Amino acid sequence: MQLRNITRALFGLLLILSAGFAFADDDKPGDAEKGAAVFKKCKACHKVGEDAKNGAGPVLNGVIGRQAGSDPTFEYGSDLIEAGSAGLVWTESKIAEFIENPKEFLRETLNKPRARSSMTLKFSNKEDRRNVAAYIATFSDSAAATTPEN
Ligand code: HEC
Repeated sequence: MQLRNITRALFGLLLILSAGFAFADDDKPGDAEKGAAVFKKCKACHKVGEDAKNGAGPVLNGVIGRQAGSDPTFEYGSDLIEAGSAGLVWTESKIAEFIENPKEFLRETLNKPRARSSMTLKFSNKEDRRNVAAYIATFSDSAAATTPEN
């Protein structure tokens, strides 16, 4: 009997610990250095740094802390603009979420089943997404980049 209780207690403890680790893993900040390599996949459309110009996608300098779809020099899709007007502001974690599946992200954010994004690529690797978001953040001012995530 006692052994069974101990086993149960241990099992419970294990569950709590593993949940804790899973949470810690989700919260782990991205690695900007590794993200630089991932950003090569974005470069066909996005530029960062001095002299960056819009391409198929907007320049991503200063994007952390900026309202989504709000660079006046770029022609966004109407749903991304709508998400920005509804309060979407880019944080590292929002970017990591967005690039997993931009269309799905806008559908969920706007609660609009037919929403679309003109960014049609999807990036499935979670760690890559987190790292590239951390890399992009190095081109945003540090005060905005450390704004608490939401
Ligand atoms: C094939 C071109 C293309 C590639 C590659 C691409 N994007 Fe985009 N991205 C776009 C377009 C187009 C938009 C504007 C989307 C809209 O208006 O719906 C966009 C929008 C964004 C935005 C929102 C910007 C804003 O001002 O609101 C972020 C952030 C972003 N992309 C990040 C990335 C990252 C990170 C990668 C690489 C992992 C990437 N994109 C790869 C085309 C691309």
